[in-house]
Amino acid sequence: MFRVGARFVHTPAARKALIEKIIRVDHAGELGADRIYAGQMAVLGGSSVGSIIKKMWEEEKEHLDTMERLAVQNNVPHTVFAPIFSVAAFALGAGTAMLGKEGAMACTVAVEELIGRHYNDQLKELLEDDPEAHKELLKTLTRLRDEELHHHDTGLENDALKAPMYDALKFVIQLGCKGAIKIAEKL
Ligand SMILES: [Fe+2]
Ligand SMILES: [Fe+2]
Repeated sequence: MFRVGARFVHTPAARKALIEKIIRVDHAGELGADRIYAGQMAVLGGSSVGSIIKKMWEEEKEHLDTMERLAVQNNVPHTVFAPIFSVAAFALGAGTAMLGKEGAMACTVAVEELIGRHYNDQLKELLEDDPEAHKELLKTLTRLRDEELHHHDTGLENDALKAPMYDALKFVIQLGCKGAIKIAEKL
């Protein structure tokens, strides 16, 4: 990092590393989200919340496409744990959906709250570095953040809080996701 006026900005190498970290972890996150909703659909596709889950899933597919594109453009390899994350995320989606629609929605609230916060942290990091240099990425991540928070609210509107052991469920899911984030930021 070096100082420009009152601001500290990254060296070109550090900036590249920052962008790589962000794209790799976000790609992993969107892959996980796609698989979570796929798991939920497998169990609850035909239920009263099927169309609600399907709509969120469609948005996650678009998020994943966006991250795939960014990864190609910036030459960022996917996390080596992508296959494991995929299986774990599907199991998380299907497993919570087996608790009923409230369980699925509690999973959505837990994941989307964490991801929304994570996108906010990244936006802050990019803004602190250089709003102009990161203009396009900031725009994309802001849109994704807003859509994740909308998913979070959809979960709350659809009885997430009525899930069995809501607090414990949320805690465990967020703990798992935090671990996955830590790993995907590095490898
Ligand atoms: Fe997403
Ligand atoms: Fe989402």
